[in-house]
Formats: sequence, structure tokens, C-alpha cells
Amino acid sequence: MLQRPIYLDNNATTPMDERVLAAMIPYFTEHFGNPASINHFYGWEAEAAVKKARETLASAINATPEEIIFTSGATESDNLAIKGVAEAYFSKGRHLISVVSEHNAILDPLHYLENLGFELTLLPVQSDGLIDINLLEKAIRPDTILVSVMAANNEIGVLQPIAEIGKLCRDRNIFFHTDAAQALGKIPLNVEDMNIDLMSLTAHKIYGPKGIGALYIRRRNPRVKLAPQLHGGGHERGMRSGTLYTPQIVGFGEAVKLALKEMKSETKRLTNLRQQLWEKLATLGEIYLNGHPTKHLAGNLNISVAGVDGQALLLGLQPLMAVSSGSACTSTKIEPSHVLTALGRSDALAYASIRFGIGRFNTSDEIDQVVEHTISTIQSLRKVQQSKSFASNPS
Ligand SMILES: Cc1ncc(COP(=O)(O)O)c(C=O)c1O
Repeated sequence: MLQRPIYLDNNATTPMDERVLAAMIPYFTEHFGNPASINHFYGWEAEAAVKKARETLASAINATPEEIIFTSGATESDNLAIKGVAEAYFSKGRHLISVVSEHNAILDPLHYLENLGFELTLLPVQSDGLIDINLLEKAIRPDTILVSVMAANNEIGVLQPIAEIGKLCRDRNIFFHTDAAQALGKIPLNVEDMNIDLMSLTAHKIYGPKGIGALYIRRRNPRVKLAPQLHGGGHERGMRSGTLYTPQIVGFGEAVKLALKEMKSETKRLTNLRQQLWEKLATLGEIYLNGHPTKHLAGNLNISVAGVDGQALLLGLQPLMAVSSGSACTSTKIEPSHVLTALGRSDALAYASIRFGIGRFNTSDEIDQVVEHTISTIQSLRKVQQSKSFASNPS
């Protein structure tokens, strides 16, 4: 049988943990009730499972269970937070602030609102991927209603100063939303200490199922009003109608529980694996680290490789490993990543980049294999590149 490539794309999604799957299975068959069925046992047992997962999520971020709304994932949570706040508060102000390096699930709803007449300020990032808090302070206007800054970046893993941003926003009575899709279960998140008013979460980045997420919406000090974006049966206190997907919610709760329990030891293990990878790759020379050298997710390593063609690099790596590159295919052409260009990387270095997303099931032996194959691929591509440039310029 063909050997499957080593999976190193854990920022894109993660394999589901067997323990999560085991917790979910009875809720597809045996406990299949609709949690909204309040008149019988089947509804009650489904509702009890949803309640337990909601409590797990709430306590993971120091919120109350009533402040957690289940959604289909972080994309929906981002849309609900941004459009929901904009619609509920447009008479107070129409100015929104975010950052150029955000995920498209943030940028696209913001541009959508811009087309409807809202004003948008997108802050730049510094060459290490962090925002300059002074620029944020200067960007705030009397009509600013929302600031949205992600907790951890999906491409370069950079951790933004969420607590500082939260304090700045709270002092000025502006709502603060954070997309924590990549951060949940990997770094401590505390909505009280960090003054977070809305937070997007998702299960499939932490070894849980796909298609389930949540939005934290602050209920007091201050209370955030939100205009629902899905209307129907009035589920989730009217903020997100639609029958709750009980097995996925149970899986989400289990995934959060495991991630929190193992966060400390896993952070240490991933830090060591990333170090093993980075130190060996860096010996090649002309390999550039994308993002801040210390303020990053433990398992994320994003590098740009000089002297190679990006597409050839990815093709060379593919037989042994599954990684992402710094380019995105749109319908018509391949474009360099907007995150890497925001750091000031040239198009060539943005194309010739690799995102290694190390996760729970990767081993040190796998990292050794990845190092060896990556080094030999880069060395042979550089030789090809050198002979091409010699052929075109022999003197
Ligand atoms: C930072 C960030 N936001 C939002 C999303 C979208 O999450 P979901 O797939 O749950 O809709 C992702 C996933 O790629 C992400 O990394």
C-alpha cells in the first residue's frame, strides 16, 4: 500500500481524536433527540448533553453558559459577530477597525459592510506580524463601534496582544471581537481578564469535528446586542436559529476538555518539535522565519526559502508531507498570501514559503524525516536555479 504523506497541516484542520469520536457516536443513534423537544425524554437527554458542552466551553474561556451560541464554525461566528454588531449599532456609529492580516472570514464581511456604507480602517502589521497598539489607538474615532483583531494568525501563528487591545477598547466603550479559531485550547483565553466582548471559536482545529463552532457574546458589563443573521425557530436565545447539531456539540465539548487538560504538556512538546525542525532547516542559509520569533503558536513554523521556485518547492515536498504554501488559488490565478505580503515579504519569497503546522499526533521521528526531505528538496532546487542563471548569464 502507498504510504500516506506525513500530515503537517494542523492549522488548516486536525484529525479527529478517537476520544472525541467515542463521545459523539451515541448521539447519532441512541440519543438522537432534538434538544428543543421539551416534552419528552429524548429531547431532555439531548438537551442535557448540549448543556454540558456549553458549560465546558464557557468555563474554558471564563464566560457563563448563556454567553455561548453554537454555530457551524468560526466563519459563521465571525459573520454573526461583525454583521450582527454593525446592524444593531449602526445608529451609534459606522466605523469598524480590523487588521490587514486577518482571515477572509473577517475581511470579507467587513468589505461587505463597507459596500453598504460602513467605513473601515484596516491596520497594517509590523514585519513580525504584530499590530502597533499606538496605531490602533490613533485609528479609534467617536463613531467607532467595533474593533476585531484575531488572537492567533492561521498562517504565521503570531499571537496579537489581545489583553492590551481589550483594555484599550473597554476604556473607550468600543466592542472588541477576536477570532480565536486558532487560539482556543492552545493558549489561555479569559474573556474577563482580556476584556473580550465577542469571540469566535471552532472545533476542527482542536481535534474535534468539522462544521461546529461557537460565538461568545458578552451579557453584562457591557451587554452586547446582536442582530441575528439566521432567522427561524428562535434557537440559541433567538440569535441563531436552526436545530442544534447535538453529536457535533458533544464532540466540541470533549475536544475542548481534552485540549485544556493537555495544553501545558502539549505546548512543551510542540515547542520542542518546532525547534527541532527550525534549527535544522535554518542551517541551510537564506531561510527566513515569517512572523514573530517568540510570540507564536507552539506548533506553527512558517518559513520563506530564497533561491527556489515556490510551486516547484511544494511539488517536491508533496510526496512525503502535507504542508501549506504561501499562495492561494483564486478562480483565475495563483496569488501570494496577503498575510506574507503584509509583513513586507516580496512576492517571490511569499510564493516560496512553507507553513508547517505541527499537531497532537506528530512525532519526533516524523520531524526528522521532514527535515531530511525538505533539506534535500531545497538543495536540489537551488542547484537547478543556479545552473539556469549560469546558462542565461555564463560570464
Ligand atoms: C483564523 C481563522 N478564522 C476563521 C476560520 C474559519 O473557521 P471554520 O472553518 O470553522 O469556518 C479559520 C479556519 O481556517 C481560521 O484559521
